[in-house]
Amino acid sequence: MYAQVNGIRLFYTEHGQGLPVLLIHAFPVNSALWQEQIAQHTMLGNVRLIVPDLRGFGQSDTPEGPYRMETLADDLAALLDHLAIERAVLAGVSMGGYIAFAFFRRHAERLQGLVLANTRAIADSEEGKAGRETNAQLALREGVGIIADMMLPKLVAPTAPDELKANLRAIIEQHSPVGIAGALRGMALRPESVSLLPQINVPTLLVGGRDDQITQRAEYDEMHAGIPGSELVIIEEAGHLACFEKPTAFNAAVATFLKRLGA
Ligand code: MLT
Repeated sequence: MYAQVNGIRLFYTEHGQGLPVLLIHAFPVNSALWQEQIAQHTMLGNVRLIVPDLRGFGQSDTPEGPYRMETLADDLAALLDHLAIERAVLAGVSMGGYIAFAFFRRHAERLQGLVLANTRAIADSEEGKAGRETNAQLALREGVGIIADMMLPKLVAPTAPDELKANLRAIIEQHSPVGIAGALRGMALRPESVSLLPQINVPTLLVGGRDDQITQRAEYDEMHAGIPGSELVIIEEAGHLACFEKPTAFNAAVATFLKRLGA
């Protein structure tokens, strides 16, 4: 299905009925990241999963970037408008979490709860921002294969099977360099969200991976300490994409959380 939002066409799918749960994928993948949550959605309780491809990814339009996290959050608010959904739980992985923070800043009244998975509250360092720009130019010059080569080892646990890595590579390589560069430049522009943490006043579940090479363990602890009443679950043998690598454990943690919200 497609929704016209903020001047672009956004692709999304819906699964099940009940508590609206909007799943926000990471960089540089797309809604296929959530394939096991979609397949096992009845395990999550009575939920209505809404699973978009963000602008620049999957089957959604790919305008010129940078894609600011605020813009991506507004795309999702417009998608909820399109579906006549007033409030939803947002579940974001990594870049999806950056977008969830932006959504909280701009549309807090529409949030019923948050699942922040493998994400970071800190902003990029100056070095990190420069690295994003280098990679954006690399993608535009040489294609997305090189981004897949660089990122794959960091996205999954060292023990991840080759088949899982091949699946991820196939997802990454569907994208255009313009979309990849747009998201890289947008992530570099994001503000820090550490100071936002104490203001988060909706039920929040933090999910991490024991072998996450991008979000450091101390960052999970900082988010957990910062968000009042939040819960933290660390998934064993999972890297930066726990929902994709260890879906059964991830889904069990999310199901317990959603049940308390009425799913
Ligand atoms: C992601 O998984 O969304 C990205 O690795 C996040 C990032 O590069 O900061």
